[in-house]
Amino acid sequence: MSVHSSANIKRITTHTLQEMKLRGEKISMLTAYDYSMARIVDEAGIDIILVGDSASNVMAGHETTLPITLDQMIYHASSVVRAVRRAFVVVDIPFGNYQGNSSEALRSAIRIMKESGAHSVKVEGGSEIKESVLRILSAGVPVMGHLGLTPQSIYKFGTYTVRAKEDTEAQKLIDDAKVLEECGCYAIVLEKIPAALATKVAETVSIPVIGIGAGGGVDGQVLVMHDMLGITQEFKPRFLRQYADLQSVMMNAFKSYIADVKAKDFPNESESY
Ligand code: KIV
Repeated sequence: MSVHSSANIKRITTHTLQEMKLRGEKISMLTAYDYSMARIVDEAGIDIILVGDSASNVMAGHETTLPITLDQMIYHASSVVRAVRRAFVVVDIPFGNYQGNSSEALRSAIRIMKESGAHSVKVEGGSEIKESVLRILSAGVPVMGHLGLTPQSIYKFGTYTVRAKEDTEAQKLIDDAKVLEECGCYAIVLEKIPAALATKVAETVSIPVIGIGAGGGVDGQVLVMHDMLGITQEFKPRFLRQYADLQSVMMNAFKSYIADVKAKDFPNESESY
């Protein structure tokens, strides 16, 4: 394994992302949770890597994102940061480490930045977490917001269906996007909301809006890596475009290996010392 060089690579920053919105260039974002995957997706040219708390689902096998801890997020984030030469790395602050206590929010953000080397943090919610957002920003840590279907609130919603279909919730979402922009957030993720509403938000705020299940009228797109690669097969929402069927590829490779070992075909002479 080699240590790859970062010479002549121009890093993505919050300014790059803002410029991309201004010139209408769409922003690409994917999740990653470990060194090897982050290295591949960074070399492919992704703009933003999200160390999402979806690690709780796809890495740890939990049903929701709630159980993952700050220490676990920092472990995933530091592995990703070691791999990345170009992409901007944003890390979810996990459930329970920022809501309702801005001092704790600041402490969590500082731990993530200091211990993982990431470039920014992401938090879920609008006006109700304004104090925490402002406190984190006061320390010079860039904050990405997340509105719509916010998975840390799944027990409040009770279902993973599309959010903000009703006028009241849609208006609150627009107001919350403005609050996050006024606070100084550099971008907002909108998850699983009607495309027309997402487009309206992207036209209303001056900061980049990245969608997942929010249509094509926003400034960029994000997907969970394991879902778009077809490693997870049980999760197939309408918004997910599957770019590979890695579960089949991996299953075939594992089965061939097992068969070769059983048949005493592996290792052969050229694979031995
Ligand atoms: O944790 C995550 O992967 C996310 C994306 C779904 C945006 O927050």
